[in-house]
Amino acid sequence: MIEVSAKLMEEHQLILKFIGLSMSYVDNANDALLLEKAPLFVNFIKEYADGYHHAKEEDILFTSLGEPGVLTHCNPIGQMLHEHDMGRELVAKMVKGYEASDVAILKEGLQSYGLLLRDHIFKEDNILYPMAENSLDQDSKQKVNDQYQKVETDMGGLELTKKYQDLYTELEQAMAQEA
Ligand SMILES: [Fe+2]
Ligand SMILES: [Fe+2]
Repeated sequence: MIEVSAKLMEEHQLILKFIGLSMSYVDNANDALLLEKAPLFVNFIKEYADGYHHAKEEDILFTSLGEPGVLTHCNPIGQMLHEHDMGRELVAKMVKGYEASDVAILKEGLQSYGLLLRDHIFKEDNILYPMAENSLDQDSKQKVNDQYQKVETDMGGLELTKKYQDLYTELEQAMAQEA
């Protein structure tokens, strides 16, 4: 039985960890620490959450679900793509915030992004991915997995994941020293 959502759900876990930590920075970090570390959160979102995970969804899984006849009843892909775009706008807000040393804007961007992505990931884990497991046939699932594998090889998925797991630990320690 081939699955198309296991890897994506694993990636969600790292994204949710970063979101939890960013929320804790918003609540507890002093302005200087928040401004210093915010670009690192943005790097994670741009390179991992968007560049790696959302690219796999948009270019591979959603594309395969968009084939004629796959999703016959309701198609949530448009909404999912819209939420990815909303996330990109919120990242632009974070960047604007830290570049101008405007902590209020930065916090707004981080908080709104966290809320958006938690809700988005919940919908994917509980609605879209189960729909994908039920709708795609074994051949299509195999193709999706082959394409994931190619992206993982091309982008160095293992190293990328390790890099951001290490960054998570570093950011968590910096926060702990602050408290
Ligand atoms: Fe998504
Ligand atoms: Fe996702």
